Amino acid sequence: MKLLLKDIAMLLQIRPHTTRKVSGQEMKELPRLENAWLMLENDVIHSFGQMSEIPNFQDIKTLDCSGKIVLPSWCDSHTHLVYAGNREQEFVDRINGLSYQEIAASGGGIINSAKKLQATSQKELFAQSEKRLQEVIQQGTGAIEIKSGYGLTTDAEVKMLRVAKKLGEKYNIAVKTTFLGAHAIPPEFKNNKEGYLDLVCGEMMEQIANENLADYVDVFCEQGYFSVADTNRVLQAGKKHGLRAKTHVNQFTAMGGVAASVKHDALSVDHLEVLNKEDITALQQSQTMPVALPLCSYFLSIPYTPGRDIIDAGLPLALATDYNPGSSPSGNMNFAVATACIKMKLSPEEAINAATINGAYAMGLSESCGSITKGKKANLIITKKIPSYGYLPYAFGSNNIDQVILNGTLV
Ligand code: NIG
Ligand code: FE
Repeated sequence: MKLLLKDIAMLLQIRPHTTRKVSGQEMKELPRLENAWLMLENDVIHSFGQMSEIPNFQDIKTLDCSGKIVLPSWCDSHTHLVYAGNREQEFVDRINGLSYQEIAASGGGIINSAKKLQATSQKELFAQSEKRLQEVIQQGTGAIEIKSGYGLTTDAEVKMLRVAKKLGEKYNIAVKTTFLGAHAIPPEFKNNKEGYLDLVCGEMMEQIANENLADYVDVFCEQGYFSVADTNRVLQAGKKHGLRAKTHVNQFTAMGGVAASVKHDALSVDHLEVLNKEDITALQQSQTMPVALPLCSYFLSIPYTPGRDIIDAGLPLALATDYNPGSSPSGNMNFAVATACIKMKLSPEEAINAATINGAYAMGLSESCGSITKGKKANLIITKKIPSYGYLPYAFGSNNIDQVILNGTLV
């Protein structure tokens, strides 16, 4: 099956296979072709070029893209898309003055979601989660990471990861899964955190590794959740089971979680709303991708990750949605890109790099996703007729996407 996209006003984010991520100054560039064609064969990008030099293709299904921009699908490297119910009441409680931490301390937050998820069947959990996945695919996401962490028992954590895997199979979309058993201390272990960590690093991780349910391991390294020592323990256990680290660090407190994650060669460190010099220095000596989650900052009214400082320090940066019921009930990458420009002062080029090639890197998918590269997956966004790519974050409230292509097929 071949599909030709022709008269593309602008083909964006063209990269050689060797580019795995872009850092610092490189993030200001967005390689592109104007008046281009792009040929897809089966599920991959076959070839592309300028319209003035288009080969004489015959009998190929063709899509007219005049006035439109074509770019690689968004790569959302941090979500908790599999969850049960919602936390709308906590949203209202916060409007009325309670803080996110106060709500969590009184048994709400992650524990609230865990109670709901434990009481939800796998079938129902799948049904609720697939609606969200369908929506984010329409919004241009073509590869996604999904975490566990609302189970907090072996059965419920396994249930979440099975649902995440099945979603990837049913929708033929790249799903990377992350085991986040150390997301919160469940009430049964309120005074026995070590006991819970024994379970996470023991039975839970063993079953998850045996069933091949996770690619990565994650910890919420934060005051009131898990310490740096706990983080070291979980990441060490993960390594033993072949699970590389992707961590939640520095959301509210800079306590050394970045350096600890780097020491374990984490693939990514995510959140980073509170970042100090030592954290930046640790990242400069690493291959770890810093990931900002601007929708979480927006929704919780907490500081934005200092993306400008990160990039200006020569580091790479990725953007993800953090889609979850408590701190970001949106998986809309378009809005994440716009918010990064509006609130974090990223240029459109930087934000698009962060949401494509660097997002792919942050979930170990740089081989197949994140850029217009021969042989990579034919996962594409075709915009409406818009004047420029900067219009995407500029017109932040509009749906600027006309069509999406996943694995070479129009969705
Ligand atoms: O990434 N911060 C930790 N975990 C999630 C949200 C958890 C929740 O409130 O349900 C996050 O923001
Ligand atoms: Fe998260």
